[in-house]
Amino acid sequence: MKVLVVGSGGREHAIGWKIKQSPLLKQLYFAPGNAGTSSLGENLSIPQNDIPKLLEFALKNQIDVTVVGPETPLVNGIAEQFSKNGLSLFGPDSKSASLEGSKLWAKQFMQRHQIPTAPAEFFSSYHEAEKFIESASFPVVIKADGLAQGKGVVICHTEKEARKTLQDFMIEKSLGKAGETILIESFLEGEEISCFALFNGSSFTYLGEARDYKKAYDQNKGPNTGGMGAVSSSDLITALTRKEIQEKVFTRALHGLLNEKIKYKGILYAGLILTKVGGIVLEFNVRFGDPEAQVLIPRIQSDLLPIFAAAAKEEKLPETIFLSPDSCAGVVIAAQGYPGEYKKGMKLPDLKHLSEELLVFHSSTSFESPINLENTKFKSKGFVNQGGRTLTLVNSADAVKNASEKIYRELNRIQFEGFYYRTDIGR
Ligand code: GLY
Repeated sequence: MKVLVVGSGGREHAIGWKIKQSPLLKQLYFAPGNAGTSSLGENLSIPQNDIPKLLEFALKNQIDVTVVGPETPLVNGIAEQFSKNGLSLFGPDSKSASLEGSKLWAKQFMQRHQIPTAPAEFFSSYHEAEKFIESASFPVVIKADGLAQGKGVVICHTEKEARKTLQDFMIEKSLGKAGETILIESFLEGEEISCFALFNGSSFTYLGEARDYKKAYDQNKGPNTGGMGAVSSSDLITALTRKEIQEKVFTRALHGLLNEKIKYKGILYAGLILTKVGGIVLEFNVRFGDPEAQVLIPRIQSDLLPIFAAAAKEEKLPETIFLSPDSCAGVVIAAQGYPGEYKKGMKLPDLKHLSEELLVFHSSTSFESPINLENTKFKSKGFVNQGGRTLTLVNSADAVKNASEKIYRELNRIQFEGFYYRTDIGR
C-alpha cells in the first residue's frame, strides 16, 4: 500500500513508525512530517492544512490510504474531499469531527445520548456569562467552543479568574471565533485518563488507555501544555472500569452517531475523569493524543495498517487489537519558554549515545541546514526545533516506573541547553 500520513508531530512520527513495520507497506509519505519521519519515508513540502494540495498529491500518486493525525484538517473537511474523489482516508468527516471542533455540539451530543459528562451552561453573551458566574460555586471550568490549540480550557478557582477568562475569550477575543461561545462547566475531582477506540462507520474496536501530563512543570505546576509526557499501561484502570467506559462512553457514542446518521471513521479519544461515581467524559477528541500516541502505539502488537485501511473503507474491524502487557512511558523535551514564547532553530541535544532501547519521536523538527535530504554529511549535522515540543523519549518495561527510570537515567547523561523536561513522568 502507498500511505500518506498528514501531520508533523510526535504523534505522526509514532503512527508512521508503526505503519513502516507493516509487510503491506510499499511507500510512505508524510505531509509535511519532520526530521524524524524523513528516516521512515518521504517528507512532502505540503502543509497539513492545505487540503487541495494534499488531495492533488494523493490523486496523482494513487495513495491507497491517508491517515490524518491532527484535528484541524479533519474539522476543515479533508475526509469529505478525499471521499468525493474516491480516496480512502482514516479520519472522521467534518460533521463527526464536531465532537472535537465544537465543545457545545459535543456536550449536547453527550446529553442526548446519556454519555456521562459534567453539567454545563453555554453562553454567547458576555453579560449573561458574567451574571452566571456571580452566583456559581467555584472552581468552574470555562471552555471555548471552537478549536483553540490547547488554550481553550481554563480552570477558574475564583470569580476574578472567571471574569478575566470571560473577558479574554469573549471581549478581547484572544482565541478569535473559537471563544465567541463558551461553556461553563462544573469542576470534577479525580484522576484523568485518556481512552481510545477505532471506528469504521458502523462499529468500533477498543484500543486502550494512556495518561498525559498536561502541566509544564513537575508536580503538575505551571501552565497547561499540549502534554509534557505520557504513560500507557494495562493497569491504569481496572478491568471493571474499562468495561464500564466501553459501554457508557464508546457504545453509547456509537449508537448516538448511528441514530443521528453520522458515520464515524477514525480514532475517537475520550478524555475522562475518574470520579467516585465512575468515569465522566471531559472531552472528546477525533484523533490520537500527542504525546499519548507515542506511548500507546508502541504497545500495539497488531499490524495497524490493514486496520486503518479497513476502517477507512468501512470494512470489518478485528474484534481485538492486541496490546503488549508491557507498560510505556514517554518524556517530552520542550524548548525553554514553551508553552509561552520560545526560540526556534535551536540545535537539539545530541542523542548519539542514547540507549538503543529507547524510541525517539520527533515533533516539528527540521534539519540544521535546509539542503538535500539525501546528503548524509548534512544528516549528521543535527536537528533543530521549529516548535515548542521537540522530542518524546519512550521506553517500555514491566511497569511504568521502570520504563520511566531508564529514560531519566539516559537523560542524566545528556547535555541540555535551551530545552527542558519534567522529571516526574511515570514516577
Ligand atoms: N495530549 C492531549 C491531546 O492530544 O489532546
